[in-house]
Amino acid sequence: MSQTTATRPEPFVSEGSSPPIITSGFQPGFTGLRCRNCDTPQETGPVFVCPRCFGPLEPVYDLPALRARLSRAELDARPADLWRFAELLPLDTLPTTAARVGYSPLVSVPRLAAAIGLERLWIKDDSRNPTLSFKDRVVAVATARAVEFGFTTLACASTGNLAPAVASAAAAHGLRAVVFVPADLEAAKVAQARALGATVVRVDGPYDAVNRLCLELTDELEGWAVVNVNMRPFYAEGSKTIAYEVTQQLGWRTPDVVVAPLASGSLYTKLAKGFDELAEVGLVDRAPIRFVGGQATGCGPIAAAFESRSEVVEPVERPETIVRSLAIGSPADGPYALKVARTSEGAILGVSDAETVDAIRLLAHTEGIFTETAGGVTLAALRRAVAEGHVDARDEVVLVITGNGLKTLDVLEDGTALPEPIAPSFDVFESWWEGQAA
Ligand SMILES: Cc1ncc(COP(=O)(O)O)c(C=O)c1O
Ligand SMILES: [Zn+2]
Repeated sequence: MSQTTATRPEPFVSEGSSPPIITSGFQPGFTGLRCRNCDTPQETGPVFVCPRCFGPLEPVYDLPALRARLSRAELDARPADLWRFAELLPLDTLPTTAARVGYSPLVSVPRLAAAIGLERLWIKDDSRNPTLSFKDRVVAVATARAVEFGFTTLACASTGNLAPAVASAAAAHGLRAVVFVPADLEAAKVAQARALGATVVRVDGPYDAVNRLCLELTDELEGWAVVNVNMRPFYAEGSKTIAYEVTQQLGWRTPDVVVAPLASGSLYTKLAKGFDELAEVGLVDRAPIRFVGGQATGCGPIAAAFESRSEVVEPVERPETIVRSLAIGSPADGPYALKVARTSEGAILGVSDAETVDAIRLLAHTEGIFTETAGGVTLAALRRAVAEGHVDARDEVVLVITGNGLKTLDVLEDGTALPEPIAPSFDVFESWWEGQAA
């Protein structure tokens, strides 16, 4: 993996929280919003639904102009963070605060590869972001826009990882953070968001109820940027940066297979969009990539639709899984994710909670990477994909690990229990050790 930090040309200097990134010379590729369903253009603002057909809005870029402007050499020389591909993000200006997000390591994992019958496996370790999940990426882009629109409160409906990411970004931008979470959320995630200064609102109900409440308050309250509601078109684009980085970290090539988890399905679909855009702007040769996704069977509406070859994603009313970070019963991007799986000849697979815990342990014990339940689901889905023939032993595979294991200790039998202490004597240790070995 090569990351150039020695040469930092001026327009992209970003060191800590000050001085600010120098914005001179930045020419955005972003040209506005448009409806994902009917293509109607929409003026840039904190809006998320098409007034004509109620479809979701998404950013548009001048890709032919970027094709002429962007070069591998220039991109390689920029600081290794999320803003490296700023022209492909929905920005008019570069953010002026610290860029601490993104450019997580792409690590070769031969011991894990051997354990699951693959020859070439990489992990994109996105648990290594400021709040230990990939959600820092989506929040970074949403926050840049929220600041531009003049919002003073940053909010979200969260399945767990978004809440601390919003809390962290709000703190770094001097905004107020109010985060809404289902009442059954892991204590570690609530504690992390509170430690970062957010007001945590625990809502009695599943994620979909939390999301409905946030939709309502977006209408009612002025000055609130709800990152995954009225900032959603900007927010969702942050996930694409994983695809850009993987391509660059592989030396400007794409893998055969990418494996990622799905909650709303946004990350999964934006990964496909990211790889596609890089080919469109001529930074990489276009090659087929299969997208494999994972969900927990206890809340796996997209996997269920994929497996039953249905076009319709039936909502799950009552999620029953340890994988709370992925527990979205009505996934907004479900139909788009199904399309990506089918057109790429990939798959979206459901895995049991037991398979998830097994996979968490396998990753920890083979590679020393401790992931949360979403990462367990992703690896378990890859194992199934290998077993079912969606992935071949010779495929080059990138497994996207999106969150850290300290956040979901409660799912491991020995997660929070402590071993009995022993007296500080060699004799005591020796007999204890023999007992262990027996
Ligand atoms: C750790 C982790 N991975 C993956 C996802 C999936 O995100 P998306 O809603 O983009 O499908 C989430 C969502 O909260 C998450 O917390
Ligand atoms: Zn429309």
